[in-house]
Amino acid sequence: MCGIVGYIGTEDAKEILLKGLEKLEYRGYDSAGIAVATEEGVHVFKEKGRIATLREVVDQGVKSTVGIGHTRWATHGEPSKVNAHPHQSESSRFTIVHNGVIENYEQLKRDYLQAVTLQSDTDTEVVVQLVERFVHEGQSVEAAFRHTLSLLKGSYAIALLDKKDTDTIYVGKNKSPLLVGVQDGVNVVASDAMAMLQVTDQFLEIMDEEIVIVTKDDVTIKTLDGTAVSREPYTAELDASDIEKGTYPHFMLKEIDEQPFVIRNIIQKYQNEDGSVRLDEDIRQAVMEADRIYIIAAGTSYHAGLVGKQLIENFAKQPVEVHIASEFLYNMPLLSKRPLFIFISQSGETADSRGVLVEVKKLGYKALTITNVPGSTLSREADFTLHTHAGPEIAVASTKAYTAQMAVLTLLAADTAKAKGIDLGFDPIQELSIVANAMETLCNQKETLEKIARDYLAVTRNCFFIGRATDYFVCLEGALKLKEISYIQAEGFAGGELKHGTIALIEEGTPIVALATQEHVNLSIRGNVKEVAARGAFPCIISIEGLNEEDDTFVLPKVHSHLTPLVSVIPLQLIAYYAALHRGCDVDKPRNLAKSVTVE
Ligand code: G6P
Repeated sequence: MCGIVGYIGTEDAKEILLKGLEKLEYRGYDSAGIAVATEEGVHVFKEKGRIATLREVVDQGVKSTVGIGHTRWATHGEPSKVNAHPHQSESSRFTIVHNGVIENYEQLKRDYLQAVTLQSDTDTEVVVQLVERFVHEGQSVEAAFRHTLSLLKGSYAIALLDKKDTDTIYVGKNKSPLLVGVQDGVNVVASDAMAMLQVTDQFLEIMDEEIVIVTKDDVTIKTLDGTAVSREPYTAELDASDIEKGTYPHFMLKEIDEQPFVIRNIIQKYQNEDGSVRLDEDIRQAVMEADRIYIIAAGTSYHAGLVGKQLIENFAKQPVEVHIASEFLYNMPLLSKRPLFIFISQSGETADSRGVLVEVKKLGYKALTITNVPGSTLSREADFTLHTHAGPEIAVASTKAYTAQMAVLTLLAADTAKAKGIDLGFDPIQELSIVANAMETLCNQKETLEKIARDYLAVTRNCFFIGRATDYFVCLEGALKLKEISYIQAEGFAGGELKHGTIALIEEGTPIVALATQEHVNLSIRGNVKEVAARGAFPCIISIEGLNEEDDTFVLPKVHSHLTPLVSVIPLQLIAYYAALHRGCDVDKPRNLAKSVTVE
């Protein structure tokens, strides 16, 4: 979702901003722009569509060492050149980029900007016009900026240029992610560290309702009332090569292939020398003290949460509820006496999850975040963090982050069981190693899976995924993968539920992907497959060694029965990938989607 960058230093700002925006492309966007300041004024270049299109319109003749840039994912106003950022004030003295949603922008327009003709349909433009109005009224730029931000309701990460002072970028943040990167004689601004790793790996966290005055040689953080804040930078431990595709045609394929490595990495990070699971004592304590765990997440992370519930309840005998983040506050369940909240989020920035975390903290409850980005908002604001160690995930469709989340949940569940004196009868680390090997075997079966994608999905307009017990949760994820990147209408159903309505949609040739990895439901899911096959469906049965039958389409290597989701999802990810590829879809950047959803 929208991303911002800023640069102030000695080199050509245009190229650094464009490269930075390219690193933010993965978040999802529909238009992009940059503004660079020179002695003659601020030059704005913006276009609907990809950064590549923006590159074509940037005037290479303009030389500048300071600028700001933006990728926009439309919220207010259609994706268009006019609505793309940067936006300028009426006199074009001020230029702004903004990520987030200004909830009270209509009100602000009525209260302060009746005399101004706005150029765009965006909420953002109001902010830049307000700064100009307050400056006209006699305030300094910094005071006007702080005044404006104090009037805003909603979320924002903002960077502002003043044509009369091109040695400064003004930055502000509330709820939306924002970092300031520092280096000798050059400073940068970015929605995430990856965008500006090209310049520095030293970053300053910016807290909500803080502003930053960034010059080439200085960074001053202040609260909205003008009090200076001091903060030390941290080193972003990211490897720039992790965010390159290398020889892969798509990030998604690279990330699918990285899964065995990720699982082994997790084992290494969470293993004691004697081979037992290593988790922070504080986390163990918090889980043990809880009488009920509430998992909050969105999208793929929610699907990992469903599997996590099974793992924690089965291993540790602790009751768990799983909730969709965007619904939780409106449909709040009756909470138990000693709840523990677990937030699962690849990005650690999902606004819906963060909204719940803020409420949970207000109520005084403990929260643990399981995330792939340790310095992220959800990680910083929770009491504890478990890092999924999957490395940057760039493709919009989440793959390795999902399996990493389930692996970490496995270790959490196993550790809690051990702390409670429950003997699992198996070694979770050993079982995860077997999973990693099985994943490798599956990643080597791409040709078979590509053929399945072609046979079943080349021309269909819809597809159903069915499974029972844990397989059902993986079906939800398999369907999500397929629909988000191939645009085939795909739905996951509990095997027994299809006949209560959805079976009406089965026609001659409708593809049905059935998962059969669970012994206790093997016969019943196969019965469900027969029901749909009798009505013309084209079944693709994915089973597991030991439960497989002669006509099964694909057989998974055997792993522990509680850990099958970590392997059964891999063929589903690959089938979705190849289906999207055959249909000519933009696999890494599917339409309308964003990687990091920073608005509610
Ligand atoms: C977006 C992404 C999904 C992701 C979801 C939750 O919708 O496209 O892939 O599962 O957000 O994101 P999170 O970062 O909280 O896991």
